[in-house]
Amino acid sequence: MESRKSRLVAVYAGSFDPITKGHLDLVERCAPLVDELVVAVLRNAHKNPLFSLQERVDMLGEVLRGFPNVVVDSFDGLLVDYARSRNALLLLRGIRAISDYEYELQMALMNRRLAPEIETMFMMAGEAYSFISSKLVKEVIGLGGDIRGLVPPSVEERLKERFRAQGA
Ligand code: PNS
Repeated sequence: MESRKSRLVAVYAGSFDPITKGHLDLVERCAPLVDELVVAVLRNAHKNPLFSLQERVDMLGEVLRGFPNVVVDSFDGLLVDYARSRNALLLLRGIRAISDYEYELQMALMNRRLAPEIETMFMMAGEAYSFISSKLVKEVIGLGGDIRGLVPPSVEERLKERFRAQGA
């Protein structure tokens, strides 16, 4: 087997609106396996995010500050083009339940077709986090529910501020 001489870079792309404990768990488990993990926020024109791109990048920066080999960035266009621009060979994706599988399979196969040299790497969400999604967290706090432990404390503060400002 030929040994790899270049740095192993992985891209973990997503909306991160906002980052949850599930995302954080994945970063914690993947970062030690690679030389560099790029956490990249999609500048998504289609979704209507709660937090602006800058806010999401700032939150990720705050939460991931302690990881020496984790870089936070944003991108638009095709993920594989972005990954190539960062010399990444891996795309990291988390899978929570079987319901995630179909969408993830489609994306992984499309990305492989577009960029056969780039591999999608799936990691199972930690069992304590497998029910968490950014969407549900926003719904729960928006309806006055307790989201403690579902997102990092700094993100919880931002969410509370945002919903207070919106008069929820
Ligand atoms: O956290 P999300 O919203 O599930 O992340 C989805 C994301 C950002 C990984 C996906 O929408 C994406 O890669 N978008 C970039 C555009 C692209 O490459 N589309 C083709 C993917 S098959």
